[in-house]
Amino acid sequence: MADIAAPTPPPGAAADWTIDQGWDRYTPEEHQVWLTLYERQAELLRGRACDAFLHGLDALDLRGASQEGGSPRGGIPDLRRVNPALKALTGWTVVCVPGLVPDAVFFDHLANRRFPAGQFIRRSDQLDYLQEPDIFHDLFGHVPMLTDPVFADYMCAYGRGGLRAQGLGQLHHLARLYWYTVEFGLLATPDGLRIYGAGIVSSRAETLYSLEDPRPHRIAFDLERVMRTLYKIDDLQPAYFVAPSLQALLDTTLQDFGGLYDRLRAESDIDPGAVTPADALVAA
Ligand code: PHE
Ligand code: CO
Repeated sequence: MADIAAPTPPPGAAADWTIDQGWDRYTPEEHQVWLTLYERQAELLRGRACDAFLHGLDALDLRGASQEGGSPRGGIPDLRRVNPALKALTGWTVVCVPGLVPDAVFFDHLANRRFPAGQFIRRSDQLDYLQEPDIFHDLFGHVPMLTDPVFADYMCAYGRGGLRAQGLGQLHHLARLYWYTVEFGLLATPDGLRIYGAGIVSSRAETLYSLEDPRPHRIAFDLERVMRTLYKIDDLQPAYFVAPSLQALLDTTLQDFGGLYDRLRAESDIDPGAVTPADALVAA
């Protein structure tokens, strides 16, 4: 029986779409882009990113040391150095991929505690915006949270859930959960709102906008509400969803989504900037 033609990895990539980081081939200019972005965001994120993120940033030393015993200047971290530390904490590793990979490939990596990261870094004239995820977004933005045991379990469960949703034709609903948590999630803490979403922490503008601007809505996280909400990929988000804690997020997603998917089939989508009567708004 003929299989549905699965896209094949590009030349040079392994069957699971991974490629070597090729760390020795990054140029001094590329290391400098990392360092510039790192310094700017690390400073801005004190008191704005959640503790799990900030601890992860330090635990993995993502300012990056250039070489064994070499220059302390920092730069794009070498995954051969990051991975043993990350693996010892939560069992995760980071693998490089040549760009966006097919959904099933992505989910399979997550389900096996491998986070696929872009290998390239943006140019110095693209510090503030870039359409495709580069290693700064992926490694600085996503990987610190993977040092947190609860978030680490959430991402792994998401990978398994992704494969299932794909089989059920429900990926469009599940993808919104990823968008509004993993990429753009906010957390309520005793000290106020904090960021955990990678799309926010890797962006200077969105770090400030998500927490401090009066324009976006900040809505208490509700699983079904989130799965009904469309999203914009090319602008600051008109709404953010606020989880009470990472543990609460993991707990609500551990339920079987089968019944939820059945309900969602009959429900309408909600526009990205809309507020519904059932929404609980959270003050900035
Ligand atoms: N519980 C989900 C399901 O039954 C899987 C999942 C877990 C999805 C965590 C996202 C996050 O399909
Ligand atoms: Co991302």
